Amino acid sequence: MERKGFLVIEWSDSLLVGFEPVDAEHRALVLLVGELYRALRTGGGRDSVESALFALADHVAAHFNHENDLMIGCDCPKRADHLLEHRVLIGQLDTVLDNIDLIRDEALLEALAFVERWFTDHVRDADAKLGRYLSARAAG
Ligand SMILES: [Fe+2]
Ligand SMILES: [Fe+2]
Repeated sequence: MERKGFLVIEWSDSLLVGFEPVDAEHRALVLLVGELYRALRTGGGRDSVESALFALADHVAAHFNHENDLMIGCDCPKRADHLLEHRVLIGQLDTVLDNIDLIRDEALLEALAFVERWFTDHVRDADAKLGRYLSARAAG
């Protein structure tokens, strides 16, 4: 399904990074994006939109913390860039959460489209590099 430059992410194996704990969190993240999208599009009301948004933001924060921990002490490629990408997105999400009462559903849909694009680009680049590194290290 696609509308006006918006993609509604569905899980695709093209998003696999080859390190199962990270892949499992990415799958869950895709589901939470879908739940927020449905809350916004089906008129479920502001409460359901906000609870889906906070669930997504919580998962993103926990997931980034997990990946950041995996990068501690490793010489995986582009580590500093990867950490910075996480920090920038968390800052953007915090801005949305801090101003949620002022942000209408249409603007949240645009923010969600941004997060979807960010996620697919980030997973296919930074996370894929990390996944290759971690799976090679696990293979010894
Ligand atoms: Fe990730
Ligand atoms: Fe990442």
